[in-house]
Amino acid sequence: MTGRLKDRIALITGASRGIGAEVAHRFALEGAHVVLVARTRGGLEDVDDRIRAELKIAPDEDSPVTLLELDLTDLDAVDRIGPTIAQRFGKLDIVVGNAGLLGEMSPMHHIATDVWTEVVDVNLNANWRLIRTTDPLLRQSDAGRAVFVTSGAAHGKRPYWGAYAVTKAALEMMVSCWAAETEETAMRINLLDPGATRTTMRADAYPGEDPSTVKPPEDIAGAFTQLCSPGCEQHGDLIRVY
Ligand SMILES: NC(=O)c1ccc[n+]([C@@H]2O[C@H](COP(=O)([O-])OP(=O)(O)OC[C@H]3O[C@@H](n4cnc5c(N)ncnc54)[C@H](OP(=O)(O)O)[C@@H]3O)[C@@H](O)[C@H]2O)c1
Repeated sequence: MTGRLKDRIALITGASRGIGAEVAHRFALEGAHVVLVARTRGGLEDVDDRIRAELKIAPDEDSPVTLLELDLTDLDAVDRIGPTIAQRFGKLDIVVGNAGLLGEMSPMHHIATDVWTEVVDVNLNANWRLIRTTDPLLRQSDAGRAVFVTSGAAHGKRPYWGAYAVTKAALEMMVSCWAAETEETAMRINLLDPGATRTTMRADAYPGEDPSTVKPPEDIAGAFTQLCSPGCEQHGDLIRVY
């Protein structure tokens, strides 16, 4: 590890498993203090345990990990993230908007209302609230960085990908607007499409696929580190990691 994220405070959503858990692990090894957001306490604790073990931190010692057990469909709770981090750490350097939900693979006119609402809330509305609540802190950072995780489903014709495809397309436009608005700042804001990655979501989308044929999340964690490093100059780009 290079210590490229030494002393950075990084918020990562969807960090209880899959891509987010791996990014959290890598960031902590690179020297960041990571604030992990998800609903599943057990998953978050597993990530904390793994980081502690790797960094050889004793149970009675402070860990570079803070767990924020939160349901992103609770949009008012998302609004409180910025003030909470400001109070606890006095700053925020990195935001990774990674949490995502597949919803139902079904024809547009068959999608249940509650499924549509949940997918739009987690994949889009929560990320807008996240931008709104963290923007002031990222502007104050000497090198504020944000990466939002998108998907190839945002492009082309995607029958049956429903709310997922719609929300990823909207996420891309939202992040690209924010990036255009912050060009003159020290912030660097980008989108990352991880491509096929071996996670629960991938298995749900492609149940017949042999997982061993799909790359593990470890293979893409380095791209997140690069985009969140103080030295990163990329801004307003969509980076495809495949
Ligand atoms: N895997 C792929 O092949 C692939 C390809 C393209 C894009 N992506 C994108 O990559 C990102 C990560 O996906 P993944 O494959 O790692 O999926 P995953 O293994 O299913 O993980 C999803 C994460 O999102 C969190 N999450 C879901 N709903 C939430 C809610 N209401 N509140 C808080 N957290 C919530 C989950 O935590 P809890 O359940 O604990 O809350 C979990 O940590 C997503 O944005 C996805 O669209 C993945």
